[in-house]
Amino acid sequence: MRSRKAHTIVVGNEKGGTGKSTVAMHLAVSLLSLGASVGSIDLDARQATLTRYVDNRRRQAAGGRPLSLPDHAAVPPTSDAAADEARFREVLESQRNRHDVVVIDTPGSDHPLSRLGHSFADTLVTPLNDSLVDLDVLATVDPDGMKITRPSHYSEMVWETKKLRALRGERAVAQWVVLRNRLSTLDARNKREMGRLLGDLAKRIGFRLIGGLCERVIYRELFLEGLTLLDLGEGSGVEMSLSHVAARQELRHLVDNLGLAGMVKGEDAQGS
Ligand SMILES: Nc1ncnc2c1ncn2[C@@H]1O[C@H](COP(=O)(O)OP(=O)(O)O)[C@@H](O)[C@H]1O
Ligand SMILES: [Mg+2]
Repeated sequence: MRSRKAHTIVVGNEKGGTGKSTVAMHLAVSLLSLGASVGSIDLDARQATLTRYVDNRRRQAAGGRPLSLPDHAAVPPTSDAAADEARFREVLESQRNRHDVVVIDTPGSDHPLSRLGHSFADTLVTPLNDSLVDLDVLATVDPDGMKITRPSHYSEMVWETKKLRALRGERAVAQWVVLRNRLSTLDARNKREMGRLLGDLAKRIGFRLIGGLCERVIYRELFLEGLTLLDLGEGSGVEMSLSHVAARQELRHLVDNLGLAGMVKGEDAQGS
């Protein structure tokens, strides 16, 4: 019998196309490669990207590739919100009792089921494209002084879910981490500006900013085969290029920064 419940990682951002599902899959496979038992839950019924990603991986594994898989469940919302909530709680409870870590992928829009999912995060990971358009879901920026004026809807939603946790008598989100995704190697000025604004915002609303993943075509290519950066190399059919090696290094930094190894051993994740 397990003596403690799984660490729950929620990947969320109230915006589509920021890399949530890609990051969720890479975190799940990284944890598996660290020897963890991993559950995964897809709350994004519309896109169901993580579910399809895992299905693609399962197909490859059935075809003879030695690929480890998370114990995956899709919990698509229906018209019955109460039934959805009950089903999600049941799936989450069951996964938390059986695994070391549960990774939850969420939709890029506000939804009661997504809010509920967020409220169970021990670690909330928010991938953010490196653009002022994407920053807008976290904070309003005054274009004249290029200063943060106030937190916006997603930040407020995270705040609300902390209250939900408190009402259930649980401690607040252990850590909220914002991860810069699709970093361009070219646009140095935008990158600097985003870095400065995110640094200010991190202090104001209490997240930890970590170095993210660069823009690389490989992420799009991996999906159909259900593979991650960790599966490349010998026998994968994809030869490792320098860009792949660099991408894998970025993923390693991400895994270290999030303290995933500690989650496997049952230690507390790094504090924010
Ligand atoms: N670092 C990256 N570089 C290049 N493409 C990326 C990167 N991260 C994600 N993508 C691609 O961007 C698209 C959206 O990613 P996805 O993970 O589905 O985002 P979300 O779940 O937030 O909607 C996908 O085609 C994915 O392959
Ligand atoms: Mg997605």
